[in-house]
Amino acid sequence: MAQQTNSAVFDRPSLLVSFDLRPYIVIQEPVRELHVLKKNEVGPQTYRDAMARFAGAVHVVTTDGPAGLRGTTIIAACSVSDSPPTVLVCLNRENTKNDVFTKNGNFALNTLSRHQQALAEGFSGLTGLPPEERFSLAKWDRISTGAPTLIGGLAVFDCEIIDTKDHATHRILFGQVTGIRIDDAVHPLIYFERRYRDF
Ligand SMILES: Cc1cc2nc3c(=O)[nH]c(=O)nc-3n(C[C@H](O)[C@H](O)[C@H](O)COP(=O)(O)O)c2cc1C
Repeated sequence: MAQQTNSAVFDRPSLLVSFDLRPYIVIQEPVRELHVLKKNEVGPQTYRDAMARFAGAVHVVTTDGPAGLRGTTIIAACSVSDSPPTVLVCLNRENTKNDVFTKNGNFALNTLSRHQQALAEGFSGLTGLPPEERFSLAKWDRISTGAPTLIGGLAVFDCEIIDTKDHATHRILFGQVTGIRIDDAVHPLIYFERRYRDF
């Protein structure tokens, strides 16, 4: 008769494996559908589905200058270097409203706290708020470049654009950080699996 507790019987009844049951915890992610796609099978939708598993900090990137005022919600941003302090943001260049960033030569990367989901929604255009009214959703000042810098978020990186690179649908803006504010909020707003989460 098979043992009840210290063993597991696999597909062949003759194969009996004994386990050492010392107390330990196994944290196992629930197994979901497994997709493995090879080079020629990877399309935009599968790529998007996989990227949805990428938890991203949510930012509002802003600019102001001769070409005009603009702010938009992004998650495609990251650090490039700490010397000199440099960040990058990726903006959809099929949206011609994003041209003002390069024309102004500046951007501020404003990293949102978990209390600022309404700001993320407003600046993504999803609420239908006209662009000129989006800035009334929060308080702003200017640190060094003239781009609007958010008061009350997590952090602000005020940047002069030092380089750009167009790739496919997006334009990568490299910004040298000329002003920083580390704000009081400590909990980030996260976008994961196509919805906002707090942390
Ligand atoms: C969570 C989230 C993340 C986004 N990330 C980016 C991004 O990294 N880059 C980008 O160009 N647009 C991004 N967008 C799209 C823009 O926020 C915006 O919806 C789009 O530019 C059209 O809005 P507009 O009315 O400002 O032109 C994102 C939108 C959402 C909701």
